[in-house]
Amino acid sequence: MTIEILDLKKRYIEEKSEILKCIKKVLKKGNLILTPELQNFEKSICRFSGSKYCLGVNSGTDALMMSLWSVGVKKGDEVITSPISFIATASSIIHLGAKPVFVDVNDDLNINADLIERSITKRTKVIMPVHWTGRVCNMEKILKIARKYNLIVIEDAAQAMGAYFKNQHAGTFGKISAFSTHPFKNLNALGDGGFIITNEKRLYDKIKLYRNHGLRGRDNVEIIGVNSRLDSLNAEVLNFRLSRLKNIISRKQKNIGYYKKFVNTESIKILESNKNEKNSHSMFIILCKKRDELQKYLQRFKIQTRVYYKTPLHLYKATKYLGFKKGDFPNAEKFVKQVLSLPYHQHLKKKEIEYICKKINDFYS
Ligand SMILES: Cc1ncc(COP(=O)(O)O)c(C=O)c1O
Repeated sequence: MTIEILDLKKRYIEEKSEILKCIKKVLKKGNLILTPELQNFEKSICRFSGSKYCLGVNSGTDALMMSLWSVGVKKGDEVITSPISFIATASSIIHLGAKPVFVDVNDDLNINADLIERSITKRTKVIMPVHWTGRVCNMEKILKIARKYNLIVIEDAAQAMGAYFKNQHAGTFGKISAFSTHPFKNLNALGDGGFIITNEKRLYDKIKLYRNHGLRGRDNVEIIGVNSRLDSLNAEVLNFRLSRLKNIISRKQKNIGYYKKFVNTESIKILESNKNEKNSHSMFIILCKKRDELQKYLQRFKIQTRVYYKTPLHLYKATKYLGFKKGDFPNAEKFVKQVLSLPYHQHLKKKEIEYICKKINDFYS
């Protein structure tokens, strides 16, 4: 039997009656877009995160683009961000005509705040840290730099729902932040989805209009907007799943604990949480020697693994034109050769993880 990296089928079995209840409730009403279910979800996110405003949108990518748009990022601007992320981090900046300017990562795979200042130019408008795998970046240092140079901070918190830094929820440090509810995330929709949080009414009002074609009422198009609304079915499901989020994170954390206990080789590094940080464990990534061989070896025993990602953002064919080259971000380039994501989802049993660890130990012995 395959040990899957993610098991959404088991999640459905666990939550079947509640999920079907959510679907029935919404379908019975016959309204699927911009209904009270969406407002309820947005209010729940505000309560959970401690932010004033939330807007449900189509995806984490849209949440990023609309956040950047709302603060006025435009052609010619530069946005400082991490080269270790999903392509959406860079593409959301590029879609607005701006340029992503990458800054190398620390050993924890997050942007190295000590290297940010040297990349600031007259064109820099935003610092966009990515809370990679659900580990919150060093926001104290980043906010200090932003204040010194009068820059806006937008958090790519796509992976950071349920993550904290000094007991403050991810996404509440910057001016505005973007989250994803993609099926692979801890708080996951039945398909694509995302949301934005902010404490600024002005930004909230702008995006509220923008996500719905710029429509105020049915007949008044105030600005040219887009169609990026979180639908009511997903809002209702996400509202239910939010009540389970802490439970899911703690089950995943427990499974990571088993890896720490049973892996007994020096060839693997399991990243520890930083001081003051509560990780949401949106992904479980280890650093390992002979990564590709290990991956193939585990595959032989039907253990699914994934690499997030083999390429840092500056070395894709599509991002070459930005002018960065191999060697520019040595840490990021080193880590993409070592990262491997292992199964750790909440439905896995201790003995399954023990089995995976045994195979890993065997491989290196
Ligand atoms: C760090 C990061 N940013 C942005 C995104 C984009 O989110 P979505 O897939 O919901 O568009 C993702 C999704 O995986 C992500 O991991």
